[in-house]
Amino acid sequence: MCGIVAYVGPNQAYPILIKGLYRLEYRGYDSAGIAILDKDIKLYKTKGKVADLDNFVKDKDVTGTIGIAHTRWATHGEPNNANAHPHFSNSKKLAIIHNGIIENYSTLREELITRGYIFCSNTDTEVLVHLIEDIQIHENVNLMEAVQLALNQVIGAYAIVIISKDDPDLLIAARKGSPLVIGIGENETFVASDATPIVEYTRNVVYLDDEEIAIIRRNQELKIKTIKNIDKTPYIHKLEINLSALEKGGFDHFMLKEIYEQPRSIGDCMRGRLNVEKGIVSLGGILDYIEKIKNANRIIIIACGTSWHAGLVGEYLFEELARIPVEVEYASEFRYRNPVIYEDDVVIAISQSGETADTLAAIELAKSKGATIIGICNVVGSSIPRATHAGTYTHAGPEIGVASTKAFTAQVTILTLMALMLADKKGSISKSRFHQIINELEKIPSKVEETLKVNDEIIRIAKIFKDSRNFLYLGRGLNFPVALEGALKLKEISYIHAEGYPAAEMKHGPIALIDEKMPVVVIATNQGVYEKIISNIEEVKARKGIIIAIVTEGDKSVRNIADYVIEVPDTDELLAPLLATIPLQLLSYHIAVMRGCSIDQPRNLAKSVTVE
Ligand code: F6R
Repeated sequence: MCGIVAYVGPNQAYPILIKGLYRLEYRGYDSAGIAILDKDIKLYKTKGKVADLDNFVKDKDVTGTIGIAHTRWATHGEPNNANAHPHFSNSKKLAIIHNGIIENYSTLREELITRGYIFCSNTDTEVLVHLIEDIQIHENVNLMEAVQLALNQVIGAYAIVIISKDDPDLLIAARKGSPLVIGIGENETFVASDATPIVEYTRNVVYLDDEEIAIIRRNQELKIKTIKNIDKTPYIHKLEINLSALEKGGFDHFMLKEIYEQPRSIGDCMRGRLNVEKGIVSLGGILDYIEKIKNANRIIIIACGTSWHAGLVGEYLFEELARIPVEVEYASEFRYRNPVIYEDDVVIAISQSGETADTLAAIELAKSKGATIIGICNVVGSSIPRATHAGTYTHAGPEIGVASTKAFTAQVTILTLMALMLADKKGSISKSRFHQIINELEKIPSKVEETLKVNDEIIRIAKIFKDSRNFLYLGRGLNFPVALEGALKLKEISYIHAEGYPAAEMKHGPIALIDEKMPVVVIATNQGVYEKIISNIEEVKARKGIIIAIVTEGDKSVRNIADYVIEVPDTDELLAPLLATIPLQLLSYHIAVMRGCSIDQPRNLAKSVTVE
């Protein structure tokens, strides 16, 4: 949450910084600001989106070749001009941007106030800049040393960049817990929360590690030290992001583009990993650990939000195919409840961004208890892949819409491959069943393409239900997580209250909600419990609920009782979530568009949840 970008080089900083902020806006968009150092530090900030900042500075002087910029997702202090970053020190000689949370900020703030510092905001960040200035003055040290000393007093997470009026060729950046990437160009250097603001200028990047400080001086080589003053050698990685992946490519919204990308993203996810002719499923990234996973006492899946829903699908797949017991945990709960973890447990952490603070903390906890940690992440080089023992990337490409779509289906695809690979190695699946599933899996990208043709039908249904106040989503077995995911998508982008429920649990409470105004989306594709779900649909109809059913093509029984029916292609029962999810993504998208909601940047949300 919060996006930060900084630049030093021969070019004007403003166009680079503002473009960078647009790219990072998915990380937070309640206020934005920029500080450019020329002779003085020129600092402009405003409540609202990056476009508001861009407008605000139109007639202002933004000349300068070094600067920092920030787009905010509020944690401490409401979104307003004062709380927007950058923040000045009292002398106005230093300006800072920050992503993260300083947990001991109130103690530090009290101390600084007693020493005469005046605070202009309610943020935790402002303590940092005053503390650094205070240390510089009283310890008589340079800026880097002051940052080092300050960060040794800080508890919490941070990615920061600081500029100083007294040293107009210097950027100091540091991180702990929040991501920071440094782009190394020709005589110019970029810093950003992720690589998207950097990739069009250079493909050479350095990922800063926790407690590292980057000393970025104009026309000099990058230097890295830890906060304990140990020198580190920068390791340059090559970026492989395709620039067109960062544009909307003719779609109205990134979310719609990403929904339509799924035939490709699922295909990319399987490429080189699934060989149907040879009957091989192989995830190279976990090969060294396959014996360990195969013999695991149990698998614990940790994740948040949509990734947690993918984990629930994984639970069904691992248990059904590989016969390994699985628990799926919210990372945020797991990390705080002293869980029982054994050395022969395998923890699978799932995360699109690879930066989710709770998932990272849960990984560290499980690691400290001796478990083996496997990651499933989308963003290459992010923190989670670097914190795990081994793992695999989903290769879905950048997901920019805040509501996760293609990352979910890619995560489910990886979990399917992993479950099949384990089942094959364990011998817990017959050869014929293994071949049956992989044959079907290979066809999933074209079946997703086919599924996307329901779009017009979904628009018709969306028009009817766009003003509903509540929705219920029901599913059983593998379709229960699909119901949860459908409800989450609707909530987050259309702001309609929606609940996902296991269909049979409905009669233990939620059935009381059903009346003639309640749309109930039932995922009723071909599966073992098909007859049971028909009974559940009857229960809703008996109470005058309106049924929107997702069924397998050719279905007759549900069609006879449902009010609206959306067909998806037939596939193996275990792969049904990959198809059934698509109409639900489209339904939430079209309802949100018709309600005039901000699709790619829903209120109060941010894509990368780097605070707990
Ligand atoms: C929902 C959504 C969130 C994320 C969650 C975890 O559409 O995007 O629920 O799934 O914040 O994020 P990652 O997967 O980046 O760890």
